[in-house]
Amino acid sequence: MNFKIAKLPGDGIGPEVTEQAIKTLNAIANKAGHSFDFKESLVGAVAIDETGDPFPEETFKNCQDSDAVLFGAIGHPKYDNDPKAKVRPEQGLLRMRKSLGLYANIRPVNTFPSQIHKSPLRKELIEGANFVVIRELTGGVYFGTRGRSEDLNMAFDTMTYTRPEIKRIIELAFGYARKRNNKLTLVDKANVLASSRLWRETMQDMVGDYSDVAVDYLFVDNAAMKIIQEPTRFDVMVTGNLFGDILSDESSVITGSLGLLPSASVGESTAVFEPVHGSYPEGAGKDIANPIATILSAAMLLDHLNLVEEGDMIRRAVEKSMDDNFVSEDLDKEVSKKCSEVGDYIANCILQA
Ligand code: IPM
Ligand code: MN
Repeated sequence: MNFKIAKLPGDGIGPEVTEQAIKTLNAIANKAGHSFDFKESLVGAVAIDETGDPFPEETFKNCQDSDAVLFGAIGHPKYDNDPKAKVRPEQGLLRMRKSLGLYANIRPVNTFPSQIHKSPLRKELIEGANFVVIRELTGGVYFGTRGRSEDLNMAFDTMTYTRPEIKRIIELAFGYARKRNNKLTLVDKANVLASSRLWRETMQDMVGDYSDVAVDYLFVDNAAMKIIQEPTRFDVMVTGNLFGDILSDESSVITGSLGLLPSASVGESTAVFEPVHGSYPEGAGKDIANPIATILSAAMLLDHLNLVEEGDMIRRAVEKSMDDNFVSEDLDKEVSKKCSEVGDYIANCILQA
């Protein structure tokens, strides 16, 4: 089959890691007789430099016209250190998510047996950890009203959620729980926040329709601790935008590197596949980044196109590269394979499988 893929490499290490994911997709095309047409567009700081807009109209159109979007990363230090910047690269990512209606961000977390000793956590604690964080992506404090007082001495951000927004993400999370181990944890801060109490209320109204799924509730501070103390207790976790952002980065500690975590953002329009990590500006252009998070995001992209067997081919090849300890410096300082070498290795494993 033929698929149109929008390629949005973005900033920092984005272009390097995206290139490796494309190598693996081309290997799949070759092996399984598909074809992928990649059309590149600007997003993030590079888009601001060229057009003044971090998510230009042309990029939006390209996403809309495609079967899936492969996204690298965005962010540049010149904006991080300038709180007064009016236009920021991150706005590009947020606008992309909002304009494509991508209300759900799926972030699977699991360990890789051959790399387990590289986790800062004890092996016996994390062995078998395998869960998915489902993060609400187009609401909450990321999109609520914000502002500054006239004298500039006060600023505010508002965490707003509506019942329909909560309901649709919880529905999606129940669907995942049913495909997995029928266990769903809602993470919130209902002991303090009114919006969290609406999450709980909505969940409680829904549990009756999903009596085959075991539901529990955790406050976010407690969940943050449990992810480290007892990660195997989780199966599917559903939470709001800000909590999900933080907890998914925290969860990457279990796997041993943030460079291993893929994600899918799905909703009303074309789905986007991107690594959980950021643009890692210090590593940009050095060919040292770990491409696996983006390569595994490409595997999720294939799942989404109903090419699950092809997605598994990528996952098996990634697994093999780790079994062979053919890994980048974040996983092994001695071995320290280049980003492009890891990409070549994984693409070759696919071709030779
Ligand atoms: C992520 C990133 C983004 C977010 C930033 C870059 C806006 O951290 O995808 O997790 O907070 O959503
Ligand atoms: Mn994040």
